[in-house]
Amino acid sequence: MALSGRKVLVTGGSAGIGAAITHELSRQGAQVAVLARASERLDDIARETGARSIPADLREPDAVAHAVESAARELGGLDALVNNAGSFRLGQVHDGRYADWRDMVDLNVLGLLVASQTAVPFLTRSEIGQLINISSMSGRRVSGPATGVYAGTKHAVHAISEGLRSELHDRGIRVTVISPGMVLTNRGEYISDPALRETTARQHTEEGLDPADVATQVCYVLSAPPDVHLVEIALTSARQTP
Ligand SMILES: NC(=O)c1ccc[n+]([C@@H]2O[C@H](COP(=O)([O-])OP(=O)(O)OC[C@H]3O[C@@H](n4cnc5c(N)ncnc54)[C@H](OP(=O)(O)O)[C@@H]3O)[C@@H](O)[C@H]2O)c1
Repeated sequence: MALSGRKVLVTGGSAGIGAAITHELSRQGAQVAVLARASERLDDIARETGARSIPADLREPDAVAHAVESAARELGGLDALVNNAGSFRLGQVHDGRYADWRDMVDLNVLGLLVASQTAVPFLTRSEIGQLINISSMSGRRVSGPATGVYAGTKHAVHAISEGLRSELHDRGIRVTVISPGMVLTNRGEYISDPALRETTARQHTEEGLDPADVATQVCYVLSAPPDVHLVEIALTSARQTP
């Protein structure tokens, strides 16, 4: 029970990497609140792990601010926010869809900003305040023609995290980026282009990390000694082609 009593809000914790994070944090004794859109999955994970469910759409700023405050109220404070929810809608720009770009910018960038902004006063009151932003290897490089917009949002996560790291230093809040390569979750099921969706599904199936491997890194960050500030953890499966 290494994280016993730790109060953690996980966005996008009802599926994929976020669900794995929620399971592992709960297993290690943390008190967890899970933010996602209202769904059976959110209810299921709350039942399975004992986490509080906080239904909200991260693309709606007022709802997000309200949800983060509710989570802090229900947990009796906040020691960490894991900004995990993200949208992965690959496609090239020349024939891309505005709705896909909008979803990625609203969720990956603006949702993370509003959740972080609302969480900061609570994290400031914790002696061990920690922000963890789940970025991607696509936040470190652009791997191909269809990844530019997604990578743009994840490069923004890296830049915003750098800014937050210096902004929040005096408040004692640590900011860590975790950058996974491919992870075996939704296998690109939201990608509009059928051929690209199929290729992505195959690559993720053959080369993807287990979501539990990312969850382990989140717990590692939360277990770091108080004087250690982990800046970034980047990881891929050993099967992923560099
Ligand atoms: N899978 C990968 O290969 C991979 C690789 C590198 C980085 N990442 C990053 O890891 C994070 C998690 O990815 P994943 O693959 O685990 O995703 P996922 O399986 O699609 O799960 C996404 C989670 O976010 C929630 N969510 C989606 N839209 C939302 C919204 N508008 N408001 C609130 N919650 C919302 C979903 O629940 P609801 O739909 O019920 O709201 C779900 O809980 C993302 O930031 C992603 O960019 C993933």
